[in-house]
Amino acid sequence: MSTNETHLQQADTLLAAMTLEEKAGQISQYFYLAGMSAQAEFVEAEVRSGRAGSLLFISDPAETNRLQRIAVEESRLGIPLLFGFDVIHGLRTIFPVPLGLAASWDPELVERVQGIAAREARAVGIHWAFAPMVDIARDPRWGRIVEGAGEDPYLGSQMAAAQVRGFQGDGIGTPDHIVAGPKHFLGYGAALGGRDYDEVNLSENELRNVYLPPFAAAVKAGAGNIMTSYVGTGGVPGAADRRLITDVLRGELGFEGFIVSDASSVVDLTTHGFAKDDLDAATRAIRAGLDMEMWFGLRFQEGMIPTPGVGAFATLPDAIRQGLVDEQRLDEAVRRVLLLKFRLGLFEQPYVDEGRAAKTLGLPEHREMARIAAERSAVLLRNIGSVLPLDRSAVRSIAVIGPLADDKQATLGPWAFAHDLEATVTLLEGMQRVAGSGVTVAYAPGVPVPTRVFPSPFAAMEQFVGDTSPQAALFDEEAEFSRAIELARTSDVVVLVLGEAADMNGEAASRSTLDLPGRQVELLEAVAATDTPVVLVLLSGRPLDLRRAIERTAAILVAWHPGSEGGLAVARVLFGEVAPGGKLPFSWPRSVGQVPLIYSHLRSHQPQTSMMRYWEEESTPLYPFGFGLTYGEVAYTNLCLHASAIGLDETLEIQVEVQNRSSRAIEEVAQLYLHQRYGRAARPVRELKAFQRVVLESGETRTLHFQLDAAARRYWSSAQNTSVLDASIFDVWVGGVSTASLHAEFTVQDSTGSFLSPTNKP
Ligand code: BGC
Repeated sequence: MSTNETHLQQADTLLAAMTLEEKAGQISQYFYLAGMSAQAEFVEAEVRSGRAGSLLFISDPAETNRLQRIAVEESRLGIPLLFGFDVIHGLRTIFPVPLGLAASWDPELVERVQGIAAREARAVGIHWAFAPMVDIARDPRWGRIVEGAGEDPYLGSQMAAAQVRGFQGDGIGTPDHIVAGPKHFLGYGAALGGRDYDEVNLSENELRNVYLPPFAAAVKAGAGNIMTSYVGTGGVPGAADRRLITDVLRGELGFEGFIVSDASSVVDLTTHGFAKDDLDAATRAIRAGLDMEMWFGLRFQEGMIPTPGVGAFATLPDAIRQGLVDEQRLDEAVRRVLLLKFRLGLFEQPYVDEGRAAKTLGLPEHREMARIAAERSAVLLRNIGSVLPLDRSAVRSIAVIGPLADDKQATLGPWAFAHDLEATVTLLEGMQRVAGSGVTVAYAPGVPVPTRVFPSPFAAMEQFVGDTSPQAALFDEEAEFSRAIELARTSDVVVLVLGEAADMNGEAASRSTLDLPGRQVELLEAVAATDTPVVLVLLSGRPLDLRRAIERTAAILVAWHPGSEGGLAVARVLFGEVAPGGKLPFSWPRSVGQVPLIYSHLRSHQPQTSMMRYWEEESTPLYPFGFGLTYGEVAYTNLCLHASAIGLDETLEIQVEVQNRSSRAIEEVAQLYLHQRYGRAARPVRELKAFQRVVLESGETRTLHFQLDAAARRYWSSAQNTSVLDASIFDVWVGGVSTASLHAEFTVQDSTGSFLSPTNKP
């Protein structure tokens, strides 16, 4: 018997011994809120009585073991708990935020990063990450753009698969690895107005061609879990959308793992005005194909203190008894969860070795990878007069200015919970360490760290958010402002660190503008007026409005929220110890009025180049998708296709030469874009289909090879209501940005040689 069959048999034996209440409990996951004793005690009692199969939000190994002991030794069947956690960009060692990781365009790096995150998580007893977030995000007002890979389905798919491989290693049960849970299925990123949790309406074209591909890639990479979305596409909430989770995810994508709801979103089916009550909600969610309910463990009633209580799935035994739900469907969900526990080896070893955490968390090699990841994520947008890299023989005094330059929380970004704040290297510290003895580095914050206008709904939960504005109360604004300007005036160069505080992006952190918050623009203008060259470093999780910044700065480096070693990484990039090579994973808008703005748009009546779109500004982005400079000039030449015409199912081989024309080693991301001229549906003006990040030595020319298979041309045609391959003429561009001009074309013919054969007719 294969191991899989043995596990199935073991799961079935256990299933046969379970009561309906234990079955419903096995597919109920509770937050464990250690800081709220009433909730914590309630959850422990649920575990003891076999009514909870999984817990989330514990990262202390002694605590996981204590709770696990309750499940194993005190519950009737002794089924171990599955521990989940938001391991988004690291556990103790924090890596750049996922949007920053995507800007590295380096899937191998991202795989290694999540491998380390998995190792640290597993060492404290976590089995499963609610990550990666693979939602395409095309509206930067949406705070959760920071958690994903940006606007593009191809880049998003590469990042999705890399992260799943990183978390899971060679598959579920690989030692030192954890289960990946790509989220949020489906379309969460398309919330109206970029407002978190708002309505989503997706056309089948967007759903299939844009939002689904990263999930397909994650499933193909073997993801063990998928989380549904809070929102619904077109009035059916994600947790109860049978068409999406059963027909598409299981049927079409062949997903075999288990499907969990987002937090409390089964109970929320009533909030949506979709379900009548908990019984109706649980019935419709499980019938739609949901396998597990993630539940806060608290009931909130207007004006009242939240009280501990069960989730909607606690009504499932009643739903079965009333004949609303088929017990086989319940068994199927429970079997999936038990099977996973067997595959993870939890029945043999439910506990974590409490000594391992100390030997694993924050290891020097983990931190080194955090530094490398931050270096590769940085995107250089501007470098006038080659102010960068900083030249130690010409620059003797550096003014580091800006409130975020010494803000550890902003250096880490959102979705960091079990980090070491003290050990976080800020930009200021990084500059001090890298500058060397001949260069003085002085600091002035200038203005306070910007704070949210409306408090975060999570602010009350102290364990979720750190204090992001430590100096705000003691800050003498006018004196500090003048001190910063004086420092700028008397220094050779200013490194101005501006952007967003950690809590300005992430969940429930949408913004109605893309402005630099607080008094930061005022500071920038006053600093620039001193005529000392300004290098602007942006810490943020979204593009910001740079219209007032551009002309006043000599250089702009986007550092994102770069993580535990972020300050060191950015300083090394600024001093040229390493060349920047990141590229934008989204189109950088000029102003908020342009969003959503994407490079792979459909052309309709007028070409995009016409000036007729906006009355007061151009309709093009400030910086296009895929853009990023390095410390040297890169040239692309000799784009060659192996054939000028291929068959529908054939693969095209493409090669191009890329040359480093500068006198130092640089990094570059070569990008290949495709456009189909006509077909059964209009296709975007260009779409990313392949990329390679390469290191080029000084003067080196390299030939890069790409393969464009039929899958790269396949798309969903709304006219046909299925995916198609068209015979057509195609344009190819290769270069270092989505506006690359090096071009070639080829023809795809169907077997009869005609463009409109009987099988290929509209
Ligand atoms: C978020 C999920 C997250 C979950 C658990 C929800 O509010 O939408 O992305 O995994 O909480 O923290």
